[in-house]
Amino acid sequence: MSRTVAVVGATGAVGRELRRLLEIRSFPLDEIRLIASERSAGTALAFKGSEITVHALTEPDVFDGVDIALFSAGGTTSKQYAPKAVDAGATVVDNSSAWRMDADVPLIVAEVNPDALAGVRKGIVANPNCTTMVAMLPLKALHDAFGLEQVIATSYQAAGGAGQKGIDELISQARDLIEHSDLLISDGARAMEATSHEVHASVLAFNAVPRIGTPDERGYTDEEMKLQNESRKILGLLDLEVVPTCVRVPVVVGHAVQVRARFAEKVTADSAREAMSGFPGLLLDELPTPLAWAGRNETVVGRVREDLIDPHALNFWVVGDNLLKGAALNTVQIAELLVERGTA
Ligand code: A2P
Repeated sequence: MSRTVAVVGATGAVGRELRRLLEIRSFPLDEIRLIASERSAGTALAFKGSEITVHALTEPDVFDGVDIALFSAGGTTSKQYAPKAVDAGATVVDNSSAWRMDADVPLIVAEVNPDALAGVRKGIVANPNCTTMVAMLPLKALHDAFGLEQVIATSYQAAGGAGQKGIDELISQARDLIEHSDLLISDGARAMEATSHEVHASVLAFNAVPRIGTPDERGYTDEEMKLQNESRKILGLLDLEVVPTCVRVPVVVGHAVQVRARFAEKVTADSAREAMSGFPGLLLDELPTPLAWAGRNETVVGRVREDLIDPHALNFWVVGDNLLKGAALNTVQIAELLVERGTA
């Protein structure tokens, strides 16, 4: 059987990784259809040594003959076009937030809940938020051993979580501000005037920005609530208590999350390390940093510490490449599972 795979958002930061992973993992496909906005239509991108012309998503027959469509072009685009791809006969794996909480759409972390794929009723499978994704692997391993009840999590999220434009903005701010290293010490507010921001909520270079997304009436942002709602759905723990804080840090690629997790059972650092070791896609390291793990497929946990107050609680630091496990890698893993199971 011949198989056609479409990549929607092929020119973006995640799209670039999707193309690379489909190539290096020898994903079983006979044709690749690269799709982006009208701005990119007609340009060419390399795939397996050939130059492939980019199509505009608005072309009427753009999904004709497509078996699997990997979407990473933002929520609005997915909301509008994923159903069109399904109508044309494709199974969609969507990397946006558009479909994640739909009861008829499975939300899958390949190593955590692959069996939920059986619930693919709308023809759409959702890929979780990149920060949630990173936390899911250790939390699943620990839940299986100790019974997870509560998570208090603070993220340290890379600029690349906001796409290529998020990376470009950070780099250009860093270039602007490096000229003003004296002001970075003596008058930070004036230093900030030497650059500008649009993508991130404030100047990100040489800074930390404690707001990602739009706050609700209680002050929690949509990005933060994804951590609560998606964790509950993926782990099948509908009452899981989650208190999230999301912070943007001047890292190009690689999200980190500091987690305090509380369990039904008592937990020690040794028993926690034992529970996590050997979990697929998860490694333990002394001092994992986002930079050191950028470009790597594995999620990595470090600084595993017993809590100072509660013998049922554990503190740890987890790092994962937001463009790979946090986005493109898990998307391709889901597509591989669909092929293995004969669903697409
Ligand atoms: P384009 O490059 O043509 O704008 P990133 O997350 O790195 O910013 O990438 C976003 C991806 O989504 C790009 O490939 C971009 O294509 C694509 N995209 C954004 N908006 C649309 C749209 N309205 N229709 C189709 N593709 C879109």
